[in-house]
Amino acid sequence: MHWHDTRSWPKSLSNALQKPQIAAPPADEATRLTKLGENLLRGGKHGEAATVFERAETLGGFRQFANFAFCYLALGRPDSALAVCDRGLVGAPGDSSDLHRLRGDALASLKRKAEAREAYRRAVATTDYAYTAAESLLLPLLSDPDGTHLLAACEELPAAYANCTVVRGFRAIALSRLGRTEEAKMLVDLDRYVGQFSFEPPVEFGGIERFNALLATEILLNPTLHYIEAYGFHRAEHLDVKEARAFPVLAKFLQTTIENFIAEFPRRGLDAILPPAPMEGYLKTAGNVVRGKESHHSHLHKFAYVSGVYHVTVPTQDGAEARGGSLVIGACDDFTGGYAPCWGSRDIRPKPGVATLLPSHIFHSVVPTNSTQPRIAVPFDLGMVIPHQR
Ligand SMILES: [Fe+2]
Repeated sequence: MHWHDTRSWPKSLSNALQKPQIAAPPADEATRLTKLGENLLRGGKHGEAATVFERAETLGGFRQFANFAFCYLALGRPDSALAVCDRGLVGAPGDSSDLHRLRGDALASLKRKAEAREAYRRAVATTDYAYTAAESLLLPLLSDPDGTHLLAACEELPAAYANCTVVRGFRAIALSRLGRTEEAKMLVDLDRYVGQFSFEPPVEFGGIERFNALLATEILLNPTLHYIEAYGFHRAEHLDVKEARAFPVLAKFLQTTIENFIAEFPRRGLDAILPPAPMEGYLKTAGNVVRGKESHHSHLHKFAYVSGVYHVTVPTQDGAEARGGSLVIGACDDFTGGYAPCWGSRDIRPKPGVATLLPSHIFHSVVPTNSTQPRIAVPFDLGMVIPHQR
């Protein structure tokens, strides 16, 4: 496995955002405004970023239509977002899949559902990697008790999506809904497909407890840690800050552990259902801090191949909250109207110092701790390198 260094890449806010494409010539007013808009967007200042992008567009050579549209969507202005997408699709050559997807989001907000679906279809037809658009096509079908439409929608996607992470996860639910239990359990086996690996830090850290205490401090003091509305808890998106001592050591362990997990695929039967492991990838991490009634709803990691979570600190339980803070693997009830799939679910009590790994298509969630103490975890992915990230 060749691991790419994510520090050398642009720090995108999320997979939802377009990578910067700065138009020549550099260092002019349009470029300065575009960079300013990107920085404002990175800081969550959508209104100010939109104002700056508006000005930059008037100066010519503007390419950041996706980021511009994203701002308007975040501001609850889908009409404006739609107009930006339309201008971008006419005026900015290159990868248009993000613009089609954001156009779909704007149309969906405007309750123009058929047009939204068509926009998402264009996004997936434009590239082999429009996983967010693919998810947007499949998501509305998850709560249909009859899995027929969901399965058909999975199969109608372009061939490149046939065994991608998001389609594999959604197909498993469709098969379960249809009573095709054996096929569904082939895709989601909560005993065989979940691995746990303990970390032993280098001796200079003075043991796992002191290592985790240092890592917890690094996460709690991380400059990117803030409350994220979409998650419903505090999260730091970039742990590889200059001052970090524990995180780089943990990152090495996570890379090795991912490689070891992949080496176990034949024994676990995962080689039969996953595409071959990528030859190159990158380690994507974050720091999740949940307290009290905060939870993490059911989700899968659609841009990843293998995912996992390293538990850093766990509140001391008071006995009344037996499931508090548990990682629940297999549950997808948040998106399926409470549907319990045929593979069941598995509670994993978080243990500091242990990494739990699973293929990225398996849904999972986190139960609230109901504790004032933080539950700190480092979710991680083997992210696949897709062409526009190079
Ligand atoms: Fe996750």
